[in-house]
Amino acid sequence: MASITMTINGTTVTTEPGTTILEAAQSAGIHIPTLCHHPALPPVGACRVCLVEAEGSGKLLTSCTTPAAEGMSVRTHSPRVLEARRFVVEMILLRHPLDCFSCPSNGNCELQDIAYELGIEESSFAEEGDTCRDHPLEEDNPYFVRDLNKCILCGRCIRACDSLARYHAVDFHNRGIHTMVHPPADRTLEESDCTFCGQCVQLCPVGALAEKPSRGRGRPWELHPVTTVCPYCGVGCELEIQVNSKTGRIANVTSDYGSPTSLNRGRTCVKGRFAWQFVHSGERLTTPLVRRDGELREASWEEALETAAAGLQRIKSDHGPDSLGFFSSARCTNEENYLMQRLAREVVGTNNIDHCAHL
Ligand code: SF4
Ligand code: SF4
Ligand code: SF4
Ligand code: FES
Repeated sequence: MASITMTINGTTVTTEPGTTILEAAQSAGIHIPTLCHHPALPPVGACRVCLVEAEGSGKLLTSCTTPAAEGMSVRTHSPRVLEARRFVVEMILLRHPLDCFSCPSNGNCELQDIAYELGIEESSFAEEGDTCRDHPLEEDNPYFVRDLNKCILCGRCIRACDSLARYHAVDFHNRGIHTMVHPPADRTLEESDCTFCGQCVQLCPVGALAEKPSRGRGRPWELHPVTTVCPYCGVGCELEIQVNSKTGRIANVTSDYGSPTSLNRGRTCVKGRFAWQFVHSGERLTTPLVRRDGELREASWEEALETAAAGLQRIKSDHGPDSLGFFSSARCTNEENYLMQRLAREVVGTNNIDHCAHL
């Protein structure tokens, strides 16, 4: 199919059919702010922060949902666009608590970024006596906190749950200013179908959903990502460990929805995302232990391996090779599992080899 040529802010941009105006602008390095949009989620055009002006028709279009078209000419920062964008952001801020100092998303908040970009400090629509919402914090699970006072109703969490997690644990409830995101039938998340996979938490653009284990472990600007593979099972999900550069300790775990090397494409389960505290546990074995006179004592690797080899040889010579069995793990690499079966079959001489995902 022929490519599309259009103009954005006077610059000629060539793109493929099916591309949205937002994607065409991004491919040309032109910034359009967004809130409800995330490339890993189906677009809905809900927040209207990404409005652009189509020259000629004078229409304001949501760039995240409008396809680019041949000959189209759009402006992303015209006075009319900026006025509309300011209106949208000020309406959101009208009932949003401005407590950025103590907010877990401070420094990693898309609403904060847009307000900064537009030079908005507070909503000019606010009148004396206006109050923010007064929802109690929802902290009834060990993994994340829901602060619905900060929710901007972008619906990303709902789409994350539907299209990435494949549950439908939360949805919009009520109407108008009483609209809120909640599990069905007044249930808590623990009583709902939620598996606490955390997709919604990572994709929430503000501080309405915040991880519990990362509390007090570092501000966003103190963290750097280390890409690794989840150690919990044989699926091998790619994770990004966020390490605090000052302490060298893990602050939280995220994932990259756009990673070309990741087989999980950003999806994780509750273990990969939230159960990382064992890494810094004082109870982890950091040196081999060998049992001497009925007690486990610290040993060098050489001593531990010699002890194991001597024990295996003794059992094999006393009872034959089939008296031994070998268990490997789905958490090992293919190469490690290959070596384990060669050890069993060629060195010891038994076909008693199996694996278990939990070893
Ligand atoms: S969600 Fe964003 S804008 Fe709201 S208080 Fe937190 S950092 Fe500030
Ligand atoms: S944690 Fe996962 S399952 Fe639960 S609401 Fe969020 S996306 Fe849905
Ligand atoms: S909780 Fe977060 S992701 Fe969900 S609608 Fe509110 S702001 Fe959007
Ligand atoms: S980002 Fe386009 S409408 Fe919200």
